[in-house]
Amino acid sequence: MDREAAVSKMTVPILLERKLRGEKITCLTAYDYPTARMVDEAGFDVLLVGDSLGQTVLGYNSTVPVTLEEMLHHLRAARRGARRALLVADLPFGSYHLGEKEALAASLRLVKEGGAEAIKLEGGRKRAGVIRRLLDAEIPVMAHIGLTPQSVNRLGGYSAQGRTLESAGELASDAQAVEDAGAFAVVLEAMPRELARLITRRLRIPTIGIGAGPDCDGQVLVFHDLVGMSFTPPAKFVRPYADLRRATQQAMEQFKADVEQGRYPADAESYHWSASVREQFEKEAARKV
Ligand code: KIV
Repeated sequence: MDREAAVSKMTVPILLERKLRGEKITCLTAYDYPTARMVDEAGFDVLLVGDSLGQTVLGYNSTVPVTLEEMLHHLRAARRGARRALLVADLPFGSYHLGEKEALAASLRLVKEGGAEAIKLEGGRKRAGVIRRLLDAEIPVMAHIGLTPQSVNRLGGYSAQGRTLESAGELASDAQAVEDAGAFAVVLEAMPRELARLITRRLRIPTIGIGAGPDCDGQVLVFHDLVGMSFTPPAKFVRPYADLRRATQQAMEQFKADVEQGRYPADAESYHWSASVREQFEKEAARKV
């Protein structure tokens, strides 16, 4: 059976059913074709082209500088690798802050030009209008509350949110507001487990946790954190399942040393003339002597 025929496509309604059945939802980021293909083939439900690509692959020190064009460039590559997983793309900072019309224009580009099946945006109550506008245009929205990395300049860093009862109450209201506005899921980032559990129990839509404890309806991690490819120390909630940065560095150093010391390429890694061409060459050479 070919890959196309073997996949059963993940959709927004299926994700909602998952919550009802108490089945966990899995999500991972990817920003290029090979990673997206691996994420898809590993069977993840949601593939997120997150604006975390600003730090993981573009070398910015936050997600704030990421542009819509950069998101589109990476989204198109990931689109080519994703078949089964629901493809969700982040609206980058600045693309939905000028008003609902601008937010819709940016989202339409992610959907029509990039192939996104849903978009994600950061914020709670204050984004309710934008969420409604996008839904009016048939674009499913995943919300994102708690530690919202695009707010780094206001928050002054990347610390966990909702640690006091007052701020926990604010986040619980945000969660309710995005559900009421029509979001189909909400990412809960970096908040106490107790708060995430409370929100997860109250909402009908799935919660996808990252640094929000095990009681969320699903979990998401950034691919580069999962495989140990980051240059910054991992956050408390990251469990690295591989050390690809070390393995890649070692492979590079080994190749460089082999070239410098004449061990690469070996004869078996070289192309050769066939016996008849070699014979012909030797005859010609002998005639010239
Ligand atoms: O940009 C991103 O990768 C995200 C996830 C961390 C949820 O927003």
